[in-house]
Amino acid sequence: MRIDFHSHILPKMDDGSSGTEESIKMLRMLSDSKVDHVVLTPHFYRQNENIQSFLERRSRSYERLCEAVETVRVMPDFSLGAEVYFYPSLSSDPDFEKLCIEGTDYILLELPFERFHENFFSEITNFMNRCDKKIILAHAERYLSFGNKPEDIRRICKINRHIICQMNCSSIAESGIFERNRYLKMISDGMVSVIGTDAHNLKHRPPLFGKAESIIVKKCGQSAFDRICRCGEDILRK
Ligand SMILES: [Fe+2]
Repeated sequence: MRIDFHSHILPKMDDGSSGTEESIKMLRMLSDSKVDHVVLTPHFYRQNENIQSFLERRSRSYERLCEAVETVRVMPDFSLGAEVYFYPSLSSDPDFEKLCIEGTDYILLELPFERFHENFFSEITNFMNRCDKKIILAHAERYLSFGNKPEDIRRICKINRHIICQMNCSSIAESGIFERNRYLKMISDGMVSVIGTDAHNLKHRPPLFGKAESIIVKKCGQSAFDRICRCGEDILRK
């Protein structure tokens, strides 16, 4: 099953889809790429709002999307989630578990876009050790652009066995050859468990699932892509 684990398709929810019309076109593009399921993961920034108010906004946006797709025939299934920007006290927030991907105990966690220093490793280690949820590191490859190395990502994943990595389809589909090969190696090395489009709109950050799939299959083999699909299915099955 092809699953997009990271998307900003909920209408008018964040810096993603501008309205239901664009959301439907994005879902259609995913459907054309034979994507079976899309996890809707709007940004959650604790510095801007609390979890409760985020969830209320998300419900309203979700209702608008559900109403709009009723009239459309072919659509991938979708479920709710969030792209949660890391803050050290996240796991002690009372509504923390409501940020999990619907029906699972996984949270999509976004790390800061900076070089990870020792104090960050201490903070994230403390968080992971206190956290009773499983973690998907959002777009794990993007942190490499800030001077981090795959070993730094691996170091975070080694904190406990419930931390896995998501890679963005656009990084595979649109990067230059050097970066692309670096990212594909992360897939071949088994570092990446799931992929997501991180689609924000139709023009500048469209859903590129199909293009990423063909590159993964061509360069890493069908078995690598199948492993990603299976891992996604295991997450959603829980
Ligand atoms: Fe995102």
